[in-house]
Amino acid sequence: MATDDLLQAALAARAHAHAPYSGFKVGAALRATDGSIHAGCNVENAAFPQGQCAEATAIGVMIAAGVTRITEILVVADGPEMVSPCGGCRQRLVEFADPATPVHLAGPEGVRATVSLGDLLPRAFGWRHISKGTS
Ligand code: THU
Repeated sequence: MATDDLLQAALAARAHAHAPYSGFKVGAALRATDGSIHAGCNVENAAFPQGQCAEATAIGVMIAAGVTRITEILVVADGPEMVSPCGGCRQRLVEFADPATPVHLAGPEGVRATVSLGDLLPRAFGWRHISKGTS
């Protein structure tokens, strides 16, 4: 599976990360069903809880482009410890991708590991729970 285009898009977005508080720059890139790639970076805020993860930015970019289904995900950060999407972003990604969707965990040098979204968030909550819910 070729991931270089996703890595390059995520790195380009990561270069613009606004992370003055953590100093931890993250990039994310999403491949959509039509082949288009949508990338984002983390955007921190002096009011810390208002900060946004790279994955959330990339999802917003994708939705604004009029695309709604993700076929492949890549997240990139630097450091010895491999980056992995936070819990909130796992839920955000589940909204637009399948459990089998590959998630590439990358460093600047390339992909370090590939897991599935279902591995990251098993038994995820979704629309099917709401639509079959009772009042
Ligand atoms: N961060 C992301 O952008 N994505 C993740 O999956 C993990 C964490 C950001 C949030 C914050 O700006 C910084 O990394 C440190 O937590």
